[in-house]
Amino acid sequence: MQLWIPFAASAGTLLAIASFVGADWDAPPVESIQIGYRGTGMYLEKDIEKEEALRAANQVPEAPWEADPEGDRAGEIYENVQVLGDLSDDQFNQFMAAITEWISPEEGCEYCHNAENFASDEVYTKVVSRRMIQMNQAINVEWGDHVGDVGVTCYTCHRGQHIPVNYWYDDQEPKPASAMSRHGGVGQFVGNTSMPQNALMDYLLEDKSIRVHSLTALPDPDNPNPAGTKETESTWAFMMHMSEGLGVNCVTCHNTRAFNDWDQSPPQRVTAWHGINMTRALNVDYMVGLTPVFPENRLGPEGDVFKIGCSTCHNGVQKPLYGVSMLQDYVDSLDKQGPTDVPDFSTYVPGETQVLGAEAPANSSALPLRTTVADAAK
Ligand code: HEC
Ligand code: HEC
Ligand code: HEC
Ligand code: HEC
Repeated sequence: MQLWIPFAASAGTLLAIASFVGADWDAPPVESIQIGYRGTGMYLEKDIEKEEALRAANQVPEAPWEADPEGDRAGEIYENVQVLGDLSDDQFNQFMAAITEWISPEEGCEYCHNAENFASDEVYTKVVSRRMIQMNQAINVEWGDHVGDVGVTCYTCHRGQHIPVNYWYDDQEPKPASAMSRHGGVGQFVGNTSMPQNALMDYLLEDKSIRVHSLTALPDPDNPNPAGTKETESTWAFMMHMSEGLGVNCVTCHNTRAFNDWDQSPPQRVTAWHGINMTRALNVDYMVGLTPVFPENRLGPEGDVFKIGCSTCHNGVQKPLYGVSMLQDYVDSLDKQGPTDVPDFSTYVPGETQVLGAEAPANSSALPLRTTVADAAK
């Protein structure tokens, strides 16, 4: 018998078994798009079947109606409008209708309101929402370097759900070591790799250096590279989070012949750099501060708030919602910045009403609401 036949037969059998037991290989058709100069190997591979599912999941919902910007201001009409006071009544109601569709289409207004008293802040989701409105305004006004004119709305992250599908938290649960990796298990926050699950803590909460590249071909004793294998692994884990979150390959942001060199990198890398800084700022300035407001089931196992990553907005596509902007219908609510004061959430008591930038009065638990923004300003 020819010697190669048993080898070919066993290789074939192994391949067949592997595909049946669910080795997670992508079946064709795969689309290959050249995104760099010829010869640089910069190709983006896209699974066409997955692309169809992504397109269906990333349709932009229409605004409930076109709002009339004229008329009395919401701040004058209502009792406890602290951020959106400059909207007209029609704009305000349009916005309330929109966020209901974006956050709680099943429960409706009552997911955030006591239907007997809309001015009351006793439902925690309303308190969170007010801070989310401030965060959303800051993204669109302060982070144009990343979100451009496309911007974001609550829908970019929430997609009709109470909390976004993609978030991350401090995960200290010990994972059993596996034959394949020292870290064990699958790190869902790091692109489903077996790399350090908590890498995002270093870059999207703290400001640890991402750069690990040596700048000389051989070790330079006068100028040693301070980054070792551990740091490199963390950077890699983070890069996997970014790639998976955007549904792209490394070459979308790098020419892989020199990962460090900005001059050889596609422009997307600069946008991504701003994205890293923005995401960290959102977590530090907005999410972490909200921790005392969330009930336990909305916190991670270590008691920290769920945090924002690239995938929270991107949801597997290179530009969230394929770069279609929803902002034109919500210019006055989400593309302008209202008051930026924050109440002291550390003294938050569920069911009580707090006023931005002012100390809560001693009787603030008494409902219906006695303290209005107008009173607080006096
Ligand atoms: C996802 C949370 C959320 C949902 C759902 C929601 N609201 Fe609101 N609502 C808020 C927040 C936050 C404020 C305060 C805004 C501010 O301070 O600028 C508010 C304020 C109001 C006020 C002003 C009350 C006052 O006197 O101060 C009214 C009226 C209102 N909402 C109506 C509605 C209606 C009607 C619906 C359903 C169609 C609705 N809201 C759904 C979060 C929500
Ligand atoms: C950049 C992403 C992002 C945007 C934009 C965003 N959110 Fe959120 N939101 C989150 C994350 C992440 C959480 C989950 C935090 C947790 O549970 O610890 C959350 C939680 C909430 C909750 C709490 C829900 C619950 O059941 O506990 C409400 C309400 C909410 N957001 C309202 C809004 C509103 C209203 C807007 C738009 C003005 C908005 N969000 C915009 C990321 C976002
Ligand atoms: C969405 C864009 C993007 C993708 C995709 C991406 N990177 Fe990066 N990468 C960056 C940015 C931005 C930096 C620089 C961060 C900084 O210096 O603050 C960086 C830095 C790096 C560095 C450190 C460079 C240095 O100066 O030491 C390495 C190594 C790296 N990336 C590898 C990868 C690998 C491997 C992949 C694919 C798994 C990948 N990257 C995917 C944007 C990206
Ligand atoms: C708050 C939502 C949000 C978060 C969080 C976010 N992005 Fe983005 N990103 C956007 C929007 C919106 C755009 C589209 C901007 C445009 O088209 O001008 C975008 C565009 C980009 C682009 C440019 C794509 C292209 O082809 O031009 C890159 C690269 C990118 N984001 C990377 C990242 C990375 C990496 C992270 C995490 C570190 C991140 N983003 C986190 C909202 C977000």
